[in-house]
Amino acid sequence: MTSVAARPLCVADLEQAARAVLPGPVWDFVAGGSGTESALAENRRALDAIALVPRVGTGIASADTGTGLLGVPSAMPVAVAPMAYHQMLHPDGELATARAARAAGVPLVVSVLSGLPLADVAAVGADVWLQLYWLRDEGRLDEILGIAAAAGYSGVMVTADTPVMARRLRDLRNGFTLPPGIGPVNLSSSSGPVPQGRAGVSALAEHTAAAFSPSFSWALLEQLCGRTSLPVAIKGVLDPRDARAAVAAGARTVVVSNHGGRQFDGAVAAVTALPEVVEEVGDEAEVLLDSGIRSGLDVLRALALGASGVLLGRPALWGLAAGGAPGVERVLGLLRTELSEAMLLAGAADVTAAARLRTRIRGYDR
Ligand code: FNR
Repeated sequence: MTSVAARPLCVADLEQAARAVLPGPVWDFVAGGSGTESALAENRRALDAIALVPRVGTGIASADTGTGLLGVPSAMPVAVAPMAYHQMLHPDGELATARAARAAGVPLVVSVLSGLPLADVAAVGADVWLQLYWLRDEGRLDEILGIAAAAGYSGVMVTADTPVMARRLRDLRNGFTLPPGIGPVNLSSSSGPVPQGRAGVSALAEHTAAAFSPSFSWALLEQLCGRTSLPVAIKGVLDPRDARAAVAAGARTVVVSNHGGRQFDGAVAAVTALPEVVEEVGDEAEVLLDSGIRSGLDVLRALALGASGVLLGRPALWGLAAGGAPGVERVLGLLRTELSEAMLLAGAADVTAAARLRTRIRGYDR
């Protein structure tokens, strides 16, 4: 690892290492949320409030973190979340993240806003899914679906919580735009390049508005399921009624997420919304959680509340900034070590046993 802290012991160590090497506006783009950042803070508060009731006397001597996730085998119930433009964090960009996911044995969801061609990222050989925003250019949407299928993507994840990119005040203050040489290479030229940065404007938000349709609907999701033979996941669901609609439209995986606090600032914490979604569709669909996951203990919390696994967002980018592919691998390795230890201490031999653990909300008697 190049500039990563010599011996990072937890994700926060890599967060600090990333902060030390990143230009301020890039750090802000990754770390920040929308509005007053209340949804961002709420994700952590809600996760920290979940206490687990450990089992003892189980006779287990170790825990097996292995599972199936997004239709593929995974070394642990963690996949890397879709995130735009990894080259902002490290010159190797998505290729480095894909190498780390492959080495760690976990799936990677590649954003349609990858700065590198989708086929090149798939060629690394990790288990990859493609994340889509609903493109205004439907012809390009079909082309991308074709590219994903031909390149060996295992599925398509549609993000539903971004009719517009929410106002992210850090980016507005920084007049944030992409560094030179990085751009949306997988989109058609009709949406244009990302504009120059100007004070008070987020060029990324402007580009998003030009490229993506604000009117995504369940009818469109149903249409999409007919346009690709790949399995379809929906990301950004918080209300169980929407989870029901997504499954009725053909989604096989539902990602409970508030976009890491980057979209609706008034949103409930994703983990708070999780149990109701599991209750509604958990028998018919795979339910995953993202937003605020920072440790193996958080993964165990999600499993105990009924998720089949989690998506990991910012920590993967911190690892990337701190040390390229080995940095991301380090983050994933830490999570696996922490999860395995937490499972053993909680008396859960495997992910099935983890799902049977009981939880309490700290401060509330039940
Ligand atoms: C994101 N996220 C995101 N989501 C998505 O569907 N498509 C995308 O292109 C992006 N881009 C993106 C960029 C950056 C810098 C971040 C931090 C996040 C959201 C992401 O998939 C995930 O929902 C959150 O990051 C999860 O929260 P945590 O783990 O970051 O707290």
